[in-house]
Amino acid sequence: MSADLIHRAGEIIRQGGVVAFPTETVYGLGADAFNPFAVARVFEIKDRPHFDPLIVHISDFREMSRLAVDVPPDAERLITRCWPGPLTIVLFKKEEVPDLVTAGLPTVAVRMPKHPIAIGLIREAGRPIAAPSANPFGYVSPTTADHVREQLGDRVDLILDGGSCEVGLESTIVSFLEERPRLLRPGGLPLEEIEAIIGKVEATAVEVTSPASPGQLPRHYAPKTPIVIEGWENHLQTYRGKRVGLLAYKGTKASFPFHHVGILSPRGDLREAAANLFAAIRRLDVLHLEMILAETVPEEGLGRAIMDRLRRASKRLEVNDTREIQGRIP
Ligand code: TXA
Ligand code: MG
Repeated sequence: MSADLIHRAGEIIRQGGVVAFPTETVYGLGADAFNPFAVARVFEIKDRPHFDPLIVHISDFREMSRLAVDVPPDAERLITRCWPGPLTIVLFKKEEVPDLVTAGLPTVAVRMPKHPIAIGLIREAGRPIAAPSANPFGYVSPTTADHVREQLGDRVDLILDGGSCEVGLESTIVSFLEERPRLLRPGGLPLEEIEAIIGKVEATAVEVTSPASPGQLPRHYAPKTPIVIEGWENHLQTYRGKRVGLLAYKGTKASFPFHHVGILSPRGDLREAAANLFAAIRRLDVLHLEMILAETVPEEGLGRAIMDRLRRASKRLEVNDTREIQGRIP
């Protein structure tokens, strides 16, 4: 990508515009983190509820001093080892960080991405960039520029095309607000690697009813087609005659006539599976299937985040779903 284009993108951010850009995890939809008007446009473009705070992206440790009041020792050790990379940390915020960015919370989520275009963009903009994933709220995150174009193309000022995202899953989010660090969202940095550096991390139960991190909402990261992840293998007959797709991990032994089979990693590699997951779900989602059956993957390393996304994608819309929760937020 030309330095000129990144320079122009930085200018757009400084002028209050919105730029979609690649990171190593997924594509982000970025605006000047200190410009509430620009940030408001990001919410509008995504149709994102205002209770859902954004991650602030930085290119240099020094920018942290504008965002967080204090970086506890565990957080510092973790970011020294893992930044730039697929790790977001949540800390108490400086007052000047706009409330819109943090959804009125006293905390801010910060991450230093590991992608030359993302880092280049933040540097050119000369300021931290607030960015959610570049998808309509609740849908699967984009891992290519085409995914962004298809859904938000006419609504953003510029899309920087950096090809496919290497990790393919959103960052792991860890908060440092309590005595012990807490995992808010499993993601592109495996929990095992984090615990090897800072010891035990508290895990939040998957089913939360308050959006401390709306990525934790029961239904999220979801395609339009219903996904079934558990209990289907022994009841395949009930799906006969229906347009059914399979999201397979390594391959399939099933003799069932699936309409389409997406294979995440023929050699059974969880990193490869993670990188392919969202694109595979999108491919299945445009086939007008009645249902997508998904195989489970081992819940270790990146498998934890893969299963987390599959579970949320498979949740049916229920009464206490996102919009309902939105209504209950004081
Ligand atoms: O990999 C990623 O994290 C990507 C790339 C673009 O950086 N971004 C991303 O953003 O996934 P988004 O907005 O789709 O997900 C951010 C998650 C949301 O679940 C949000 O609730 C949570 O981070 N979050 C943001 N600020 C928070 C805070 N102060 N406390 C708790 N959770 C927070
Ligand atoms: Mg998102």
